[in-house]
Amino acid sequence: MGSSNNIQYLRIIVLSFFLFIFLLPEAVHASKKCYIVYLGAHSHGPRPTSFDMEAATSSHYDLLSSVLGSHEKAEKAMIYSYNKHINGFAAMLEEEEATQIAKKQNVVSVFLSKERKPQTTRSWEFLGLRRNAKNTAWQKGRYGENTIIANIDTGVWPEHKSFQDRGYGPIPSKWRGGNVCQLDRVRGSGKNLCNRKLIGARFFSKNFEATNGMVKSEERTARDLQGHGTHTLSTAGGDFVPGAHVFAVGNGTAKGGSPKARLVAYKVCWSRTDVNSCHEGDIIDAVDQAIYDGVDIINLSVGGRRGVTSNDIFTDGVALAAFHAMSNNVLCVASAGNDGPYPGTVANGAPWIFTIGASTIDRDFTSTLTFSDGTKILGGSLSVKLPPDEAFDFILATDGKLANATIEDAQFCKPGTLDKAKVKGKVVHCLKEDNIKSVAESLEANYAGALGMSLENQKKQGKTVNDEAHMVSTVTHYHSPPKPKHDATPNPPKGSILPNEWQNPNYDVLLATAPPSPSLKVMMSPAKTVIGTKPAPVMASYSSRGPNKIQPSILKPDVIAPGVNILAAYSLGTSPSTLLQDTRRFEFNVLQGTSMSSPHVSGIAGLLKTLHPTWSPAAIKSAIMTTATTRDNTNKPIQDAFDNDLANSFDYGSGHVQPDLAIEPGLVYDLHLNDYLNFLCASGYNQQLISSLNFNRTFICKGSHRLNDLNYPSITLPHLGLDPVTVSRTLTNVGPPGTYNVTAKLDGSKVAVVPNSLTFTKLYEKKTFKVIVQASSVLRRYKYQFGELVWSDGKHRVRSPITIRRR
Ligand SMILES: *[C@@H]1O[C@H](CO)[C@@H](O)[C@H](O)[C@H]1NC(C)=O
Ligand SMILES: *[C@@H]1O[C@H](CO)[C@@H](O)[C@H](O)[C@H]1NC(C)=O
Ligand SMILES: *[C@@H]1O[C@H](CO)[C@@H](O)[C@H](O)[C@H]1NC(C)=O
Ligand SMILES: *[C@@H]1O[C@H](CO)[C@@H](O)[C@H](O)[C@H]1NC(C)=O
Ligand SMILES: *[C@@H]1O[C@H](CO)[C@@H](O)[C@H](O)[C@H]1NC(C)=O
Repeated sequence: MGSSNNIQYLRIIVLSFFLFIFLLPEAVHASKKCYIVYLGAHSHGPRPTSFDMEAATSSHYDLLSSVLGSHEKAEKAMIYSYNKHINGFAAMLEEEEATQIAKKQNVVSVFLSKERKPQTTRSWEFLGLRRNAKNTAWQKGRYGENTIIANIDTGVWPEHKSFQDRGYGPIPSKWRGGNVCQLDRVRGSGKNLCNRKLIGARFFSKNFEATNGMVKSEERTARDLQGHGTHTLSTAGGDFVPGAHVFAVGNGTAKGGSPKARLVAYKVCWSRTDVNSCHEGDIIDAVDQAIYDGVDIINLSVGGRRGVTSNDIFTDGVALAAFHAMSNNVLCVASAGNDGPYPGTVANGAPWIFTIGASTIDRDFTSTLTFSDGTKILGGSLSVKLPPDEAFDFILATDGKLANATIEDAQFCKPGTLDKAKVKGKVVHCLKEDNIKSVAESLEANYAGALGMSLENQKKQGKTVNDEAHMVSTVTHYHSPPKPKHDATPNPPKGSILPNEWQNPNYDVLLATAPPSPSLKVMMSPAKTVIGTKPAPVMASYSSRGPNKIQPSILKPDVIAPGVNILAAYSLGTSPSTLLQDTRRFEFNVLQGTSMSSPHVSGIAGLLKTLHPTWSPAAIKSAIMTTATTRDNTNKPIQDAFDNDLANSFDYGSGHVQPDLAIEPGLVYDLHLNDYLNFLCASGYNQQLISSLNFNRTFICKGSHRLNDLNYPSITLPHLGLDPVTVSRTLTNVGPPGTYNVTAKLDGSKVAVVPNSLTFTKLYEKKTFKVIVQASSVLRRYKYQFGELVWSDGKHRVRSPITIRRR
């Protein structure tokens, strides 16, 4: 391991919340709710002393007491005092009390703490990273050596091999988190469960507990009992672990994007049988702590149902926390969400967040269903272990349902819908309900005695085949199976249409009206691993899409990264399905979603930060964005698994990440705190609110700043008239001296760049250019058009997508 004298340690916080769907918790306090009182940045600046922090907390109590009437009441109501970087507190309040606090001087905003839903072996090779290969981003980035990655998620399974510390030097001196390791010692036989790899672990449960009741005392630790946090943390920074597999597939060496990084777990997501959530009050404290502890990049997996996040940064706890991270030089990486393929679903639209969508890699776990009528369906599977030459009776779930179950529920094989007498010993066909998790379907199939399951995507799930650790042998696919013959077929029900192509969610309803016959049989081939599949990447159909509803002038997502069938470390504290009825325990698991893509980008950002310790979060983000590709491994434009059509910038942003190019981007579009503050001015926020975000607490909005001019690595003009519009950008040279020429194209419109050539003579030299866009009068109104702007010196290619819409 090389000397680390000159390394400024990378600070990476990984904030990840599950993007699955969970149940809503019931409030414990009927009328009091958890509110966040936000006061902006602290006047004590970025390096608070303990005296500063105590003074800040005391002022929070004073403010709260002044409304509640006494210090005792304030003590009782206070949940957290955010006293390090984020200024504010969380307290249990009546609505009326919250309203009164909002009127106090210096209070920027008061809002309800929102509930967030918690939403690899092969993927790194696919991104071009090989362990011993020379000149890869891994080698050049020293495997992210001594960077600090913090995961704000469901905690960590500390004994996992991905987190062993053999060969690691002392903990980087910039780590300010001390040796706080809030993990139970019971399972670790009394020894400290943190080490030189997993350098810290904390839990944040006060907001969850105030809302949902206490967590069991033995569970009040940072131990991961849900698997998600262990998986994501190891994807970002897990060490090399050979022999990783789930069932028999995916054999290989598991590792993270920055495999030599130091890791910290901040647990903010909690689960119980009826509740599973992460609360903003806990998240904000975890981010405040992580910034203080000395991390540099935040992986913010903010999901939640649509409508949970706020359009207003001052009432969105996660956007605010991310803002403070950015202003302390910490990059926030976050998932786009799993609400695709519908337009306008992308989450985390703020420009200071790095927003990541999901795509496939070139590895499939496959199995073929062969039906007795000759039909073959190729699907995905981790789990087929039926004898390959034996044919089993095939039954549609709707034919095998209990009399009391509805067809709507039975088609998804929901709990309590299948009839043992009909399904036992057969292969049952179910529709996939959730975009991400469908192990519950196989639990019901297993319960009813089925030996296998054919799991079909709904239309919106397109051709993205998710492989999971199912309870019975399962093949996931996107084809309607052949229809079992029904004796005495009655007339089709009124209004029904016959199934066409590969999907018709109503076909079960149609078939269910007739009595089943056991005449159709099916064979399942053993699951096998196929590497080098083409085309890849393909957009995952569930990856949330632009346009960015929160901030239309910022293209989101920013990039895509592997998020389908990602194999990584898992917690032994839960089953691969996370269902209580499932008693299996796996060291590794295959998971799905944009939650899996964002740690890939955190890992890459870790490499960049090790290599370029002085770069700002925006420079790292720009490097990853401008070197992303819009082509797949057949050199054709990336496709969308939803409709097999070509994907566009609303699906993949700048494109699919290419770490080997990102480490040497040539030029970057840089941004700092003042640029974002000017952007907020141009967004119409008043100067006083904006000043609250600034360390110095006064910021003058100048009228000259426009939204278009934020120095973002993509260009988006959603309200073009017919007059030409000028956009300004500034490039910073981070490569050798050279001359870059520009090419720009935009369907159906004129685009000119002035000047069209830029010569850089030294490192960090800045040059400004203008892009003039004029929509053609024949362009259809309100329809988005896509194009690109590319600067090249013959070696580097610095690409920005252009997206316009005529109003
Ligand atoms: C993976 O490894 C397991 C056990 O080591 C072995 O049984 C299996 O055949 C391997 N699978 C593949 C696809 O190589
Ligand atoms: C139907 O009845 C069975 C008991 O016969 C029960 O276990 C199951 O939960 C019921 N299903 C539904 C959907 O109500
Ligand atoms: C990063 O955030 C994503 C969601 O945005 C999450 O899924 C992932 O787990 C996080 N990464 C890490 C390393 O925690
Ligand atoms: C605060 O003000 C000082 C002096 O005016 C200036 O040097 C410094 O850069 C400012 N800090 C920030 C974060 O704006
Ligand atoms: C840039 O354009 C100039 C003038 O046309 C040309 O001489 C030069 O070779 C170009 N450079 C690159 C890298 O394409």
